[in-house]
Amino acid sequence: MKIKGFLEDISGIRRITKARLDAIKNAPADPIPEDPIRKTAEELHPGPLDLVVTSVVPAGKDVKTFRFAKPDGAPLPPFRSGQYLVLTLEIDGKLISRPYSISSGPQEARKENGFVEITVKKPRKDGFFADRILESLKEGDPANVLIGVGEFCYEPLRDADHILALAGGIGITPFLSMAKEIAAGKTKPSITILYGADQKEDLILFDTLQELEKAAPDRIRVVPVLRNAGEETDGDSFEHGLLSAELIGRYLKGKGDTSLFICGPQPMYRYLKSELLKLSLPARRIRFEVFGSVKNISAYEGYPKEAAGRTFSMTVQRGIREDVIPASASESIASALERAGIRLETACRSGECGFCRTKVLSGSYFVCPENDGRRAADKDFNYVHACSAFPLSDLKIRIPIA
Ligand code: FES
Repeated sequence: MKIKGFLEDISGIRRITKARLDAIKNAPADPIPEDPIRKTAEELHPGPLDLVVTSVVPAGKDVKTFRFAKPDGAPLPPFRSGQYLVLTLEIDGKLISRPYSISSGPQEARKENGFVEITVKKPRKDGFFADRILESLKEGDPANVLIGVGEFCYEPLRDADHILALAGGIGITPFLSMAKEIAAGKTKPSITILYGADQKEDLILFDTLQELEKAAPDRIRVVPVLRNAGEETDGDSFEHGLLSAELIGRYLKGKGDTSLFICGPQPMYRYLKSELLKLSLPARRIRFEVFGSVKNISAYEGYPKEAAGRTFSMTVQRGIREDVIPASASESIASALERAGIRLETACRSGECGFCRTKVLSGSYFVCPENDGRRAADKDFNYVHACSAFPLSDLKIRIPIA
């Protein structure tokens, strides 16, 4: 953009106003049948889509890859590698939504018979949605899917051209999508993936990662980091131990400017936060994928211990309707609504996206400090993100009609 001078630039607004007035004056009397900007926006961001499950493939012990496509095989809307989708299914008569990182490449969606894939692992506990889809979602089933949510993606204006990805377990999935896009020659950065797992058998889709590495050896490198290793994992391509500062530092060396992308279980995040401090990297070069609901809210600093285990009553306003439901102190407001069969839109379920923004009319609550993505004004006006807010008393809330 060329800066002409203070007065000239400020007065430029008058020229825009005049151009707009002229366009209005010369517009046809009949309404324009099509708004090209709206049409493009709707094509790019069509909202949740009614798709169908086109394949279910085992991808390891208690792991499956689910593929979704349009029933007519038409291309799917675009997304960026690293983003997630929101899968909504009817379970026991209730509409339940959960986010899953997309494990297929963006280029695989934008063609005839295009598709998106997620890879789901059975959680150790508290995973009724994942359990349900692993047990019973099958080829031919309908699925409502919102594609392309989240900010965990390479952004050339912000990120370095080399990505050092730190993955733990099923946290490999967004990096799989990135590697697929890189191998297809569709994006600029190179990627080194340090893939943490307990043992070799726990490396999910490792064969696929190795094939991608072979397809673009100068731009993709995959290094398993095993906690419990056997002899067969000795050698150049394996590391042993944890994702320590020492190990990460070795893979940063000689790579120039690098962005760290991190995705894995919450204990891995806690460990890495202290390890990364030792490397004194600029904060702008470290990106954590955030989604994952709070597992044990009473363990957080500042949580009033006397509330733990209590159940309150929550009055829910939707338009002119009011319902009163139970709300446990150990569950988020979003979970209490879901349990009662009251629909509230959610996406990330970790306080970041704002889909579940809710007005609290009365009562007190605790917001998880690690997942508090609210704007300052929302805090002032008593709005919460229902997925990261927990009741501390009887509550009255207002939610949109979904
Ligand atoms: S679902 Fe994203 S903030 Fe609650």
